[in-house]
Amino acid sequence: MCGIVGYLGKKSATPILLSGLKRLEYRGYDSAGICVLENGALRTFKKEGPIQMLATELEKQSLDSQIGIAHTRWATHGRPNEINAHPHYDCHHNIAVVHNGIVENFEGLKILLEKEGHKIVSETDSEIISHLIEKFYKGNLEQAVLEAVRLLEGTFGLAVISTSENKLVAARRGSPLILGIGPDEVFIASDASAIIEYTNQVIYLEDNEIATISESGYKIESLDGHSINNQITEIKWTIEEIEKSGFEHFMLKEIFEQPKAIANALRGRIKDDKIKLSVNFDSKKIDKIIITACGTSWHSALIGKYLLEKIVGIPTEVDYASEFRYRSPIVRENNLLVVISQSGETADTLAALREIKNCETLGIINSVGSTISREVKSGIYLHAGPEIGVASTKAFTSQVASLVLLALYLKEQISGQLDKDLSVELLTIPEKIQSILDQAETIKEISQNLVNAKNLLYLGRGINFPVALEGALKLKEVSYIHAEGYPAAEMKHGPIALIDKNMFVIFIVNHGPIFEKIISNMQEVQARGGRIITITDTKDATIEKLSEFVITVPSVSEELSPLVNIVSLQLISYYVASANGINVDKPRNLAKSVTVE
Ligand code: F6R
Repeated sequence: MCGIVGYLGKKSATPILLSGLKRLEYRGYDSAGICVLENGALRTFKKEGPIQMLATELEKQSLDSQIGIAHTRWATHGRPNEINAHPHYDCHHNIAVVHNGIVENFEGLKILLEKEGHKIVSETDSEIISHLIEKFYKGNLEQAVLEAVRLLEGTFGLAVISTSENKLVAARRGSPLILGIGPDEVFIASDASAIIEYTNQVIYLEDNEIATISESGYKIESLDGHSINNQITEIKWTIEEIEKSGFEHFMLKEIFEQPKAIANALRGRIKDDKIKLSVNFDSKKIDKIIITACGTSWHSALIGKYLLEKIVGIPTEVDYASEFRYRSPIVRENNLLVVISQSGETADTLAALREIKNCETLGIINSVGSTISREVKSGIYLHAGPEIGVASTKAFTSQVASLVLLALYLKEQISGQLDKDLSVELLTIPEKIQSILDQAETIKEISQNLVNAKNLLYLGRGINFPVALEGALKLKEVSYIHAEGYPAAEMKHGPIALIDKNMFVIFIVNHGPIFEKIISNMQEVQARGGRIITITDTKDATIEKLSEFVITVPSVSEELSPLVNIVSLQLISYYVASANGINVDKPRNLAKSVTVE
């Protein structure tokens, strides 16, 4: 959510900043801006709309500068327009700031600054920071930033330059920021994709740290003035992984990457009749599991509950991270808190994790080195590769595969025996998913029937109820068509009132004990004129009769069925949205990685 790039080195700053912004566009795309220091003056360009608008403006300029900052915005305070776009200035245009996060006490600070004569021109909370730095500036930018951020309540990841010094200053509390280290150059970025083209050597700034970069190198200190020697980490993924590689959209590329992503999540983890995970707690002591997450990751958490209760037999609760921290959750020493996050930076999930100090914690995270991954006691990395599409796809299936691994691991640790059948079957999931991807053209044709739909119901039961939720969320996010996920049997208790001849209902029907019951739910929909699309692993004459369209998926054990059932739903969302001309990689109002609460 919002992206920051900064550069100080020997190369021309503008193309580096611009390419970084393009790579960060998935984090916010309502406006963008860039500021470079050229011949002692700050030159700023801002544009409302996608980065390309800014790029077109910059083509007309000839800028000669080796230091600068840039920002792509997802609006929190103030509408998306040029005035509210970053960088923000002080009164005399001597200091420029880009900021991610939310300054919660900005109203109070604004009153104070205006009383002192500062002229604040935007509606943003971020502009306050440049005026505070101006207030404290006495010839040392770093010192002024230090004094300014000490007054801020809320979160910040920020980068600052000024006319008076050839320095780039960055500070962080609650909003991710990294330093990229190259020969004779240092980058700042809110995530590594912005700079991977130039360097894979990075330093993760921790909360309450400030970095000062100058021609002579960089130094990092805590906000209370202690010098810090952070480790340089090597980023393992490559530039190719964040490119579209011939696909029209990242979302489609990532849907098609799922066989590989799941194979990566499983690689080396099922071996010699054992599940290998880097888990540092005694599984036998765990008497309750609590899983917390947001959005799509929360849906995989719901699947996790089914898996952990069925396979391991440990009571498991699932909570939205945003709710968990604001109620009074009962968490005891022998409980295990599992946090699931693709980005590892989601503000609510991080806050929930930080709330709980008295039990074991385990993260299921995609983004290596992210804040959550560094703060949990044990972790399972997804190894799905960077997920750029705003709508999460491959991270979801990799999370579910990792939850199956976790359940198998706990079961094996507690009982001394591996569930061999399930673990062997888990390894076949990539090829099963491939067989659904091979039907993409048929699914595309079926999807064309939904392009004018106004409402959809997604119905599933048991472990596939969260799949119905996730299918509905995917459609809403990228096509803006209203959709609801429901447990199929609950339909009778309300949503059935919505069903008429214009209503499409997507059923997820798997073989097993509730097969007949779900067929009855289909009858109820058909009797009221509803139009049925069925995703099923079962060849059945009644299903054929009741459904307008049937998508057949490979038959797998119930525990693994979400992994195959979700894929057609992801494809349906993608094809409906693209048929409606929506840029699925930049759905309106959304941004990847929600780093504000
Ligand atoms: C939906 C989606 C979001 C995220 C949610 C949590 O497609 O991407 O709902 O799942 O914002 O994000 P992470 O997993 O990064 O914590």
